[in-house]
Amino acid sequence: MAAVLEERPVDTTGKKLAVTAGEIKLEHVCKTYGKGPFAKDVIKDCSFLIERSKLTVMIGPSGCGKSSLIRLIAGFESPTSGKITLNGKPVTHPGRDRLVVFQESALFPWMTTYDNIMYGPRARGEDNQKTRDLANFLLDKVGLTAFRDKYPTQLSGGMQRRAELARAMINNPEVMVLDEPFRGLDAMSKELMWEYYAKLFEESHRTNFFVTTDIDEAVYLADRLLIMTNTPMQVRAVIEVDVPRPRSLSSFFTSDRANDVKMQALSLLHEEAMKSFSGGSKAAADFVEAYAKRKNATAAE
Ligand SMILES: Nc1ncnc2c1ncn2[C@@H]1O[C@H](COP(=O)(O)OP(=O)(O)O)[C@@H](O)[C@H]1O
Ligand SMILES: [Mg+2]
Repeated sequence: MAAVLEERPVDTTGKKLAVTAGEIKLEHVCKTYGKGPFAKDVIKDCSFLIERSKLTVMIGPSGCGKSSLIRLIAGFESPTSGKITLNGKPVTHPGRDRLVVFQESALFPWMTTYDNIMYGPRARGEDNQKTRDLANFLLDKVGLTAFRDKYPTQLSGGMQRRAELARAMINNPEVMVLDEPFRGLDAMSKELMWEYYAKLFEESHRTNFFVTTDIDEAVYLADRLLIMTNTPMQVRAVIEVDVPRPRSLSSFFTSDRANDVKMQALSLLHEEAMKSFSGGSKAAADFVEAYAKRKNATAAE
């Protein structure tokens, strides 16, 4: 049972491989909503690889098209043109192999933490000893054993997000897709979640695709960082965050490489925000303001 997370196969060099880890490839993906004079290009010619066993983070200004892209990857919608494949096979419909954790809580309020985690296996008729053991193992992993029989409203925001991670992991997806999963948490809970989540990733090395607008979150978590443009969204830059794991949050941002990446990413995002700021976008104006604050704070350190 713990095999899902821990007893991983080893390659010839002794390096542990992920038990399940898929690879998603996007080739020239475009998405246009609406038709004729109302047509709006949201994604334009997006090509990139979500590499197997890596944590790929996408960061872009709010409203740039990130969630739209996730709907395509999840198979809820189809691209207007271009191709998305999972392990070489076209993505045509939603599947258990790609599970999405959304920013809005998807926990069922009438179910306990345990029942929420068991939802997927039960829906497939797999309420057996193996999945029950796995649910308890995951409860422990996310630090919620004592909250096993509580309802979502009895959990803090951070606990709810942890329950959601366990609820997704029990299905053992090949790729975990997370759309701003920690948005709305206070700063302290957020940092705790980053550490929790990074540890879960480091244990399993499942392929993860994580979308955010938070620069510190992005740089701390990423193996590879995709910086996106404003709508129509394209890949503006790809940065490899070659800082070794496990990463400790307290020392991470004192590393030169982490700071270089952060500065490079901030300046690209700032350029993108300025472009739409001059176009009158409210989201971009908010971003420029937040960026200015962040830059001052960094300069003052
Ligand atoms: N179904 C839709 N029809 C028309 N426009 C849409 C639809 N879904 C998203 N959009 C537009 O696409 C843009 C990107 O939205 P979204 O993908 O939610 O951005 P993000 O997740 O980066 O904040 C927005 O301008 C939004 O209004
Ligand atoms: Mg979004």
